[in-house]
Amino acid sequence: MTTLGEELAGATAALAEVGCESPRLDAELLLAHVLSTDRAQLVLRGGEEASGELRTRYLALLTRRVKREPVAYILGRRAFRQLTLAVDPRALIPRPETELLVEVGLELPHGTRVADIGTGCGAVALALVQERPDLELIGADISDGALSLARMNAQRLGLTVKWVRSDLLSEVSAPVLLANLPYVADGEPLPPDVALYEPHRALFGGPDGLDLIRRLIAQAGERQEVELIALEIGHTQADAVSALLAQAGFRSSERRRDLAGIERVVVGRR
Ligand SMILES: C[S@@+](CC[C@H](N)C(=O)[O-])C[C@H]1O[C@@H](n2cnc3c(N)ncnc32)[C@H](O)[C@@H]1O
Repeated sequence: MTTLGEELAGATAALAEVGCESPRLDAELLLAHVLSTDRAQLVLRGGEEASGELRTRYLALLTRRVKREPVAYILGRRAFRQLTLAVDPRALIPRPETELLVEVGLELPHGTRVADIGTGCGAVALALVQERPDLELIGADISDGALSLARMNAQRLGLTVKWVRSDLLSEVSAPVLLANLPYVADGEPLPPDVALYEPHRALFGGPDGLDLIRRLIAQAGERQEVELIALEIGHTQADAVSALLAQAGFRSSERRRDLAGIERVVVGRR
């Protein structure tokens, strides 16, 4: 007989062997999914026998993870602030540091119209409208696939966002812009989980990673209605983005750091 604890130990070793960064956590999340339980319960159930059927189903998920498919795509969901969002390869998996953009939105005056540019699965727009239902949210993306996923998330969560297919600001007008656009420099090496599975259109932003951010800031500068723009950036890009904001007529008023102390969001105000 094999116990759940032994299954978990074997799976952890297999994931560590192929270089997964958090093998134990991944193995636990996948086993909890197969058992329709949560991770805390696994500790209590470690001595339980693993049935043949359970082992087959667990192995199927582990095989995907061994090939480095992200756990969020395997489970089909990801937590973001207070929401559980459906995720799949149509859009980037939302990252914890992107919650900083939501925090900028939480400070806005009552009733402000806000556009989430490059909304992906809708994470920023949906989290913000859930926490501040008085705000008017627009979620814009150039990808039809991402927008269909965002719409599905909104419907499932019962949240109202206006979804727009738009190349940056081509179809969008709002006084506040929040944007997590692609900012990885072309050719920059990425972990296999990201490079092999997440949409490249959501990741890469030209030779220095700033092609889309540069275009968005220039467009925002020409739109007198834009009062505030907050941009998520890569860890080396804060100075360059502050300079772009200044050129476009925005005061680069602040930078916000993630939990690792890295400058992740630059805020520009007219
Ligand atoms: C880094 S992902 C961010 C997704 C989401 N905001 C998040 O944080 O999880 C960037 C998104 O920008 C979108 N995008 C790329 N080029 C764009 C453009 N020219 N106009 C609008 N959206 C664009 C991509 O389709 C992708 O969904």
